[in-house]
Amino acid sequence: MQRLYRKRIVLGVGGGIAAYKSAELVRRLRDQGAEVRVVMTSGGREFITPLTLQALSGHPVHLDLLDPAAEAAMGHIELARWADLVLIAPTTADLMARLAQGVANDLLTTLVLATNAPIALAPAMNQAMWADPATQANRVLLQQRGIRLFGPASGSQACGDVGMGRMLEADDLAQAAADCFERSLLTGLHLLITAGPTQENIDPVRYITNHSSGKMGFALAEAAAEAGARVTLVAGPVFLPTPDRVQRVDVVSARDMLTACEAAMPCDLFVAAAAVADYRPEVIAPHKLKKDPSKGDGLLLQMVRNPDILATLAGREDRPFSVGFAAETENLLEYATRKLRDKNLDLIVANDVANPSIGFNSEENAVTVIDRQQHETRFSQASKGHIARQLIAFIADRFHQA
Ligand code: C5P
Repeated sequence: MQRLYRKRIVLGVGGGIAAYKSAELVRRLRDQGAEVRVVMTSGGREFITPLTLQALSGHPVHLDLLDPAAEAAMGHIELARWADLVLIAPTTADLMARLAQGVANDLLTTLVLATNAPIALAPAMNQAMWADPATQANRVLLQQRGIRLFGPASGSQACGDVGMGRMLEADDLAQAAADCFERSLLTGLHLLITAGPTQENIDPVRYITNHSSGKMGFALAEAAAEAGARVTLVAGPVFLPTPDRVQRVDVVSARDMLTACEAAMPCDLFVAAAAVADYRPEVIAPHKLKKDPSKGDGLLLQMVRNPDILATLAGREDRPFSVGFAAETENLLEYATRKLRDKNLDLIVANDVANPSIGFNSEENAVTVIDRQQHETRFSQASKGHIARQLIAFIADRFHQA
């Protein structure tokens, strides 16, 4: 399995002899499925050429903070945001000192201050430099701030000394990078998700729909992609941008949604966050319906049941781990538990759409997840993005226990 599938790694290369191993590291990271962008310090460039790392990473190497061409292509703030992990290998004693002090006097140190991604350092230096109290104090400070250290290892050094300070080998560093994403419990799995309302046509100009904005489903799709899943998002008519790294299929009606979901099978997990119309007009009038005085003031629309997408997928032989949503205005937990049983689900996410500060069209949500043992787990009110990340972690956890 590619443990770094679609992970975005900024590899910082400092100025040490171990920089020759960085070329191999780029290859190992890419073998594991990662996308790699390289940032070099001026010292790093003395030991290995940007051209080598450009050829291996498949992207131009970022060198200078004040290079207008590089900034126009992908600026340092953009690069800091792009990263899922910043790995600096080799990290020299000087880099450790600058990072410990929060100095931002080149592209790499600036990027470290600007990123929210986890940061990992692979120290590489002479054993006496590593043992020096100044370096050790910097190490402690950096670790206290949550920065991870990969190594160093002990052994013979390029300078002829023997001791602690050797950079880990490329393979070990790639594995350590993958370990940083262990929480990405969905790596390598296919997650199919429905979102938004469906639209059921009455005639060429009119339709029946509901208030679903699709925000919760889109936030879940984004969180699942961040957690390493390959995500297929089948979306009803909504006005939302496609989250990064998500394969989107736009549909209109419930029947289209079912067809798109069946086409996307097989999947490991299915999350049905769409508010699917239960009924549709039996016939779609070929022309705009006219007011008909002979029929009085009323209009009778014959409606028929739509297929239940969730129950259909959860009933298949190659059934995915299935998660439903129950948006209710009353008897929330009772109705949700009944749906979990009737639709043969693993989990159901109940949300109270009668409360105007959560649910349909609002920015926030609060939900209760119910499992087959009727155990309830509550996620209190927060932004839909926050709830989505919590839900995806919970779903992933239960998927792996199943
Ligand atoms: O029965 P109800 O519509 O309340 O069930 C809600 C859950 O079932 C949601 O997860 C929704 O996405 C899913 N559903 C579906 N197809 C339908 C109706 C609901 O997938 N036709």
